[in-house]
Amino acid sequence: MASNGGDPPMVVTVTGAAGQIAYSLLPAICAGRMFGPTTRVALRLLEIPPAMTSLGGVVMELTDCAWPLLASVTATSDAAEAFAGANAAVLVGAFPRGPGMERAELLAKNAGIFKAQGAALDAGAAPGCKVVVVGNPANTNAMILSHFAPSIPKKNISALTRLDHNRAVAAVAAAVGAPLGDVGGVCIWGNHSSTQYPDVTRATVAGKPDVNVVEVMGGQQALSETFIPTIQKRGAAIIAARKMSSAMSAAKAICDHMASWVGGSDGATVSMGVAGAGEYGIEAGTFFSYPVTCTGGEWSIVEGLTVDEASRKYIDATSQELQAERSDALSVLSAAAESKL
Ligand SMILES: NC(=O)c1ccc[n+]([C@@H]2O[C@H](COP(=O)([O-])OP(=O)(O)OC[C@H]3O[C@@H](n4cnc5c(N)ncnc54)[C@H](O)[C@@H]3O)[C@@H](O)[C@H]2O)c1
Repeated sequence: MASNGGDPPMVVTVTGAAGQIAYSLLPAICAGRMFGPTTRVALRLLEIPPAMTSLGGVVMELTDCAWPLLASVTATSDAAEAFAGANAAVLVGAFPRGPGMERAELLAKNAGIFKAQGAALDAGAAPGCKVVVVGNPANTNAMILSHFAPSIPKKNISALTRLDHNRAVAAVAAAVGAPLGDVGGVCIWGNHSSTQYPDVTRATVAGKPDVNVVEVMGGQQALSETFIPTIQKRGAAIIAARKMSSAMSAAKAICDHMASWVGGSDGATVSMGVAGAGEYGIEAGTFFSYPVTCTGGEWSIVEGLTVDEASRKYIDATSQELQAERSDALSVLSAAAESKL
């Protein structure tokens, strides 16, 4: 992990900074969970004007924590100020889906946000800035952002699916009775939505080469009836129980995502929503969750995996959903007289 003890701090922009994910995320960043225990950070916190008073309280608390790694905090509702010089950007703020709201309406609200933030990133981010989009619909928001941030290489923009990945790993570890760190080869394909495909067909348990994870989990039918829908609907189950969406686990996953990306995944497969080049038959440029490994600050899609027939159906279904989201987003943007995505 990079150290910058004597260097200028890393500028880290977090949007939606007065929200509930940020309340778990900001202390984790300041504790070194994202960029390591010696990297100082300068936080740029972006919120909408009505949330600035609340954000002021968050800033007071961050100050009162006396984090040794926290070099400075800026709270602003001005995107240009928030993204100026950003080395990393975590885009959590988004327009929430209200009761009965259609997907097209949600996409329209968010397209405006991610268009504006893409333009601000494009204008002000530091070279090499790494961006993770968390706010939903995360994959499509990442696509819109990327379109409006043409100077930022697509490989530097990603959507968060690490929470889904972590959920799947935790479920496998529990099922096989192994420590979490021993489980490998799990991945999430596709959209961060209920069509995502949590894939355990190649899952392994370190030191136990004879363990067939699919068999231990009851075979393909049990996976289709229990494990896969449980992971796909885990976010909804948490909302039903907590009356609020996942925040602690989302914050942990955001840190894991950035830590793997920046510091490497040590050969392990993790999941990231990234724009591929057509791997596994997915349309090039779609922000799609793939199995990736990370090294030297770059992700690479794990290629050459055998995809069985059942997996293919799930992958095609989530791919189709993303194409439909893309087409809805396109209509919204073209209706707003914008250029082609
Ligand atoms: N990808 C994932 O794995 C994942 C997991 C959990 C939640 N999410 C999504 O993350 C988002 C945030 O969740 P939360 O629980 O923190 O929500 P929240 O409502 O508690 O906080 C969101 C914050 O974003 C702010 N915001 C809205 N528009 C903004 C804008 N244009 N610029 C800056 N800030 C803005 C709001 O004022 C609010 O404070 C939601 O879209 C949620 O669905 C994604």
